[in-house]
Amino acid sequence: MPTLSEIAVEASTCTRCRLADNRTNVVFGMGNPQADLMFVGEGPGAEEDRQGLPFVGRSGQLLDRLMRQEIGLTREHCYVANVIRCRPPGNRDPLPDEIEACSPYLEAQLELVAPRVVVTLGNFATRRLLHTSEGISRLRGRSYPFRGGHLVPTYHPAAALRGGGEIVAEMRADFVRAKRLLAGAAP
Ligand code: URA
Repeated sequence: MPTLSEIAVEASTCTRCRLADNRTNVVFGMGNPQADLMFVGEGPGAEEDRQGLPFVGRSGQLLDRLMRQEIGLTREHCYVANVIRCRPPGNRDPLPDEIEACSPYLEAQLELVAPRVVVTLGNFATRRLLHTSEGISRLRGRSYPFRGGHLVPTYHPAAALRGGGEIVAEMRADFVRAKRLLAGAAP
């Protein structure tokens, strides 16, 4: 099995889907390759595409804040990735074949980092990893067994930025759930 950095080098020239045509940078993922906690988002936006790093725009600022305030960690302690690694034009939703084309990278990240707790941010990550078409508001509020550990679904931070205090409060509760599971609490 190649290392995460070897796979990132391979991904940096990926042409597996049409999103390669318009990207500035492939946003592979970042953080501690031995992290116990991994966040999975949707895909890069404009700022992520520019910098080549996940969650560096406004959503990322909220993610960092909730991570620090509710879990007591910074992203250097965690691993952060997305369902897709290249920005869709105009920030449209990723298409099923794009998600499929990018899935070997996410699979490799999940396998190599092998986190004990995965927090999925929003519909795309949650549906992909739980193999469901159910929406996030019905799926969140509990954890799910996942690859010998736990998966905690929550809203995408962009939804919280749009939706305001109630969504943020639910995200906080989900982050606390992730923290308890990290500490070994029963689900
Ligand atoms: N939104 C995402 O889902 N991922 C990012 O990396 C940035 C914004």
